[in-house]
This record gives sequence, C-alpha cells and structure tokens, in this order.
Amino acid sequence: MSLSAGLYVHIPFCGVKCFYCDFTAFAGQGGTVNRYLSALGIEAALMPERDPVTLYVGGGTPSELDEEQIRRLFALISGAYPRSRFQELTFEANPESLSPAKIAALRDNGVSRLSLGLQTFDDALLKSIGRRHSAADFLEVYAAARRAGNWALSVDLMYGLPGQTLESCLRSLDGVLALEPEHLSLYGLQVEDRTLFGKREVEPDESLARDMFEASLERLERNGYRHYEISNFARPGYESAHNQLYWRDDEYIGLGCGAASYLDGERSSNMDRLPSYCQAVEAGRRPVAHSERLSGKEKLGERAMLGLRLVRGFAPGREIEQAFRDEWESLAGRGLIQREGDRVSLTREGIFMANQAFAEFVPPFRQPGAVAQ
Ligand SMILES: C[S@@+](CC[C@H](N)C(=O)[O-])C[C@H]1O[C@@H](n2cnc3c(N)ncnc32)[C@H](O)[C@@H]1O
Ligand code: SF4
Repeated sequence: MSLSAGLYVHIPFCGVKCFYCDFTAFAGQGGTVNRYLSALGIEAALMPERDPVTLYVGGGTPSELDEEQIRRLFALISGAYPRSRFQELTFEANPESLSPAKIAALRDNGVSRLSLGLQTFDDALLKSIGRRHSAADFLEVYAAARRAGNWALSVDLMYGLPGQTLESCLRSLDGVLALEPEHLSLYGLQVEDRTLFGKREVEPDESLARDMFEASLERLERNGYRHYEISNFARPGYESAHNQLYWRDDEYIGLGCGAASYLDGERSSNMDRLPSYCQAVEAGRRPVAHSERLSGKEKLGERAMLGLRLVRGFAPGREIEQAFRDEWESLAGRGLIQREGDRVSLTREGIFMANQAFAEFVPPFRQPGAVAQ
C-alpha cells in the first residue's frame, strides 16, 4: 500500500471550448454527466488498491456539474476510498458556472483548495480567447468563495495571448494580487495544433511574452509569492501538495476520460473520447489507451525533467549526472541551468525555455561525446 499516492479525477465537461485549449474537454455534453459519474465509480473499483493522500478534481470544468452532481461525485469518491484522509482536496472551477450553492457543496465535502480560471481581467481579451465570463463575474465568484470560509484560493492567469499588451498583462496580475489569493498559476500561451488558435496559425510574440513573464515574476516576488514551479506561485505554505507529488515522481491514480495514472512503475493514460471511455468501464474493463514502463536512460531522463520543474531544482545523483553528461554540458553552455552544491536548477532563461531544456531528456538522446552548443 502506497502512502503518497495522489488521486486525480477528470471532469471533461465545459460550457464552450476555449480557442487555445487542447485538454480533454467537451462542450455540449451535459446530458452525459450522470452516466459519466457512474463510470467513474466503476473505474475506481477496477484500479489497484491505494489510500490516496491528496485529491485533485480537475478538468475540463468540474463546476459544470450541478450541486447534486457535485455531492454525488464526492460520495462516490469517499465510497471508493473509505480509508483515505485527504490532506488536500482541490477543485477547479470557472466563474460562469460556480454558484453559492455549489460553493456550499464543496465546503461541505471538505474541499481545501479552490482553483479559479480567470486568464485575464480584460473583457475584450476574454471574449477573443473564447471565454464565457467577464471580469465582473470572476470578482463576484471570488468574493463569494472568500466569504465561504477558510480555504485556499488559487487563480489561473495566462500571458502571451494574441492582442495582449504588457500593460494589460500586468493590470490583470495587479487585479489578482489585490485579491490576495494564496496561490497563483501563470501560464504562457502554448499554441496547440488541434485548437482554434492552432488552426488559425496564431503566432505568439516570444519577445513580448518574455517581457510579460519577467515583469510578472518580479511583481509576484515583490508581493510575497514564492515561485516554486515553472508556472506556479504560492504564499509560504500554500504550494499545491498534489502537484508536488507529480514532480517528486510519486504514484498517482487518474480516474476519468483522458486521465493519466502512474502505479507500480507503469504510466498509463485513459481513452480520451467519452463514449469509448464509458463503454469500456461499463463492460468492466480499465479504459486504458496507452501504457508504458520506462526504464534505463528514459526513466532517468523523466526524473531529471520532473526535478527541473521545481524552481529549487534537485540533486541528480551520480546515475543521472553520468547518463546525461553531454546534455548537462550543453544546457550549462546555453545558460539554461545553474548549479549550487549538489543541486541543479533551471536559470530564469531556462524556466522560460523549459520545453527546450526538457527536450534534452527525451529520446533520441545526444550521442555520447557530442560537442555541446
Ligand atoms: C485545463 S484548464 C482547467 C480549468 C478551467 N476549466 C479553466 O478554464 O479555468 C487549466 C488551465 O490551463 C491553462 N491552459 C489551458 N490551455 C492552455 C494553453 N494552450 N496554453 C497555456 N495555458 C493553458 C489555463 O490557464 C487554464 O485555466
Ligand atoms: S480552458 Fe478550461 S473552460 Fe476552456 S476549454 Fe479548456 S478546460 Fe474548458
């Protein structure tokens, strides 16, 4: 029995599909929710036994569930994991679908972190990225959530959006800082092929995005937020325990359409279409689409990438140092990593270029002895 497993439950329903989003999330499928919740219960019973210590209900948009469905979801989770005493329960919500009644249902069920997706305070920009809510909707929901009691609030913001200026980005950040959330996630826009932005061939302005990131980092740190992971900032003590479990290479159970699990050394991901997910589970089968067991250099590379996600970095140890000698040299040569004692971490440059740095740790690997550039 693992003590440090996390439990992730995916709710793939959304009011509309945002123009940038490539997550497993479907609009217009509200009629499937009850069938889906039943499937989650069956899937939990098919999984290897664990006593998870954190719960993260993410999406998609979990707040698209109505109040009764939210209560049913938590009843189903506590039925499936009767011994679990979750140290942290996170629930993701969008401003347009979170009501006071739903907030009460979340509080009744012990939710300790509420993560609210804002993206930007600029109403015109919200519209241009396909969001259904306004800045005022967000403020109303945030105030209601704050009044509901003593729990940690987190806000998602994005930078590098088409048409976003540095001033607009910082105005949004200042607007959020004024609300004093315990936690903040700041994501640079990634243009993914399958999204509307991908199809429109939106091209991010990398240099402007970099300015937004640098200025935001400085402002967050000045306001007492600790940058602890590439995209995540927290007041001391409010770092996400669930996400840290991923970055420490611990086990996790993922339930739901498109969810990923990491159990007994095997990484697997579920089918990402609703009908096939539900049908597989209803037939008593685990709805796994892909699974793999990393070993050798691939496993070491995975550990290196996870360790580097943390701003404080990690101590690679002899095996990872030797397996990636040329890669470390190349990263240092490009100014993407720094060392302090036995720890290695990404530099500011490296944090902004994290995907380039991580590419060093996935096959095909650099040839031994290759010249670092
Ligand atoms: C999967 S969403 C779920 C939360 C919720 N449905 C919402 O929209 O706020 C989690 C966060 O990922 C971020 N995100 C999604 N797609 C992204 C993209 N293509 N580039 C950067 N950030 C993205 C957004 O900030 C979003 O709030
Ligand atoms: S960003 Fe959130 S609301 Fe928008 S489509 Fe993705 S999961 Fe749904």
